[in-house]
Amino acid sequence: MTQVPRQSSRFLVMSASLREGSLNHKMATLAVAAIQAQGGVAEQVSLRDYDSPSFDADVEASEGLPPGADRFRQRLEANDAFVVASPEYNSSMPGVLKNLIDWVSRHRPQPFNEKYGLLLSASPSMVGGNRGLWALRIPFEHLGARIYPDMFSLAQAHQAFDNDGRIADANLQERFDTNIANFMDQVEAATHYPCVKRAWFEYLGERPDAETDRAEVRG
Ligand code: FNR
Repeated sequence: MTQVPRQSSRFLVMSASLREGSLNHKMATLAVAAIQAQGGVAEQVSLRDYDSPSFDADVEASEGLPPGADRFRQRLEANDAFVVASPEYNSSMPGVLKNLIDWVSRHRPQPFNEKYGLLLSASPSMVGGNRGLWALRIPFEHLGARIYPDMFSLAQAHQAFDNDGRIADANLQERFDTNIANFMDQVEAATHYPCVKRAWFEYLGERPDAETDRAEVRG
């Protein structure tokens, strides 16, 4: 099959761990390298850059979005798609990450709506943090984000990287690169070929109501 040159897309790549030496930070760095190798533009950030107080509707009413959440919202809007490399804590997502999602979801237009996302995880365990990613899909998809079906979870991640920060097992590294490239294909289609269906989040029988709507309806 003839290879058609890519239309370049922009990706926000965030590691969702606060700690130095994070395995998920390594995953995020690897994702940036794979995106760039495939002709995409990647902006790497860390959850640490967007520290926000616990969500409080009274604070929201008096002060609006805290600066950290608002900066993340801006970076999200400036990119075509996002990638999150997240640890799994107790079979779910880190509370700090959920808190950021909750804050950002309060902005209008709601920034996750119709954004394409890819989820990655790394953990020393044998499941590689994959259960946390299933939990993470729920708020993102609830908000209308298009979360790519294939997720990549690196098991025994504390032993999985070589000295150059690549996955030492060549087959796994290739699978990772393919996962990223396939996601990029989907983002390219959604960004550059507007015939792709864009509105698809589930309808739970609610009537349109500004008080309960998760996102504005677009034409
Ligand atoms: C963990 N860890 C963990 N790992 C896992 O695979 N499944 C789990 O349910 C949990 N639960 C859990 C809870 C809490 C409170 C902590 C602190 C840790 C281990 C975790 O995945 C490991 O520390 C990773 O290395 C964290 O990611 P970073 O910081 O290396 O990116």
